[in-house]
Amino acid sequence: MKTVSTLISNIPASPTLAVNDKAKALQAAGHDIIPLAGGDPDFDTPPHIIEAAIAAIQRGDTHYPSPMKGIPPLLRAIADKMERENGIIVDPMREIIVTPGGKWALYLALASILNAEDEVLILEPYWVSYPPLVTLAGGVPVLVGLDSERNFEITAVSIRQHLTPKTKAIMVNSPNNPTGRVLTADEMNIIADIAKEADLYVIADEIYEKLIFDGTHISLASLPNMAERTLTINGFSKAYAMTGWRLGWLAAPRQIMDLAVKLNGQTISSAATFTMHAAVAALTGTQEIINTMRDSYQQRRDYMVAALNNIDGVQCRSIEGAFYLFPSFPDSGLNSVQLAEKLLTEASVAGTPGIAFGQSGEGHVRFAISTAMADLERAIERIAKVKWVQ
Ligand SMILES: Cc1ncc(COP(=O)(O)O)c(C=O)c1O
Repeated sequence: MKTVSTLISNIPASPTLAVNDKAKALQAAGHDIIPLAGGDPDFDTPPHIIEAAIAAIQRGDTHYPSPMKGIPPLLRAIADKMERENGIIVDPMREIIVTPGGKWALYLALASILNAEDEVLILEPYWVSYPPLVTLAGGVPVLVGLDSERNFEITAVSIRQHLTPKTKAIMVNSPNNPTGRVLTADEMNIIADIAKEADLYVIADEIYEKLIFDGTHISLASLPNMAERTLTINGFSKAYAMTGWRLGWLAAPRQIMDLAVKLNGQTISSAATFTMHAAVAALTGTQEIINTMRDSYQQRRDYMVAALNNIDGVQCRSIEGAFYLFPSFPDSGLNSVQLAEKLLTEASVAGTPGIAFGQSGEGHVRFAISTAMADLERAIERIAKVKWVQ
């Protein structure tokens, strides 16, 4: 037999898989596992968004979209949103593409700027898909470890020490998965200054933008002279509880967008037409759902942070955004995979080992709080019964 793809074979299997597999096996065997390892909102998509999709199907909007990169009302709604809320001026017809999920927007962004051996800085802890996406797009991920003791603060030194003549771009995610941090204006300015100095592209992943409890969201593309080098990713999954619809977008300067459109056209063609009509309803309809969800996540955050810190041997910083907590267990003597296993076997709670998000996440476990309050309360009861001090 001929060989199979080396590129894809070399992408490491996620360290979360083993624990997730075990959690699923336990669940299948009838164990009551509380699932805090996912990233899916527990809310359903609001009815007016669903109705817009059904109406689109019923009136026959079941053909290829025209243009393929997105129907004009959606491109305009995205451009309006970006100008109004993010202070970014984009040409709706030339600088936006609608994608099946934010993840594909990330891939299009990377593939449109990278050549072989170009390096991409990834701030650690990172969302698990960042390094593989860079590799698949032909680049080399360079991990920039941030210090857990300093709440993963971004400093100029930490970024600068990884710059080489091959550095092409930096990936930035705020609010952050898995740390829940919202980057400060100072941190954003550090990134922008270095990007301009070293002539880097910035991939700004703003998918959790609507889930902020404290702090203010700053879009990198809105900072002075940053629009020309910033590729902004956003989407509907988290903001509108639409993970299964697979809908996101990329906004980028036009010479990059032309390549992204070409790549999209020669691979997946487009996102589904009727979902685009739903997305117009999401952006132009009532935004009440966003406030309801955010308030609910905030309530869960307040409860969980206080409750986890009350447990002997557990430390949990509060989060400013997104829906993940990233507690550590400093006196347990266990690494993050062992911690996740102990949580699973002794507390029947599934969390994600911090190492999945890079070396800087070691010692931590990620809990998603996009889970009903009653389950979070049960999880706390169980975690509290386990010994976390060696
Ligand atoms: C940081 C981050 N970016 C992008 C995505 C992609 O989201 P989707 O492809 O569902 O739009 C996720 C999903 O979990 C994420 O956590």
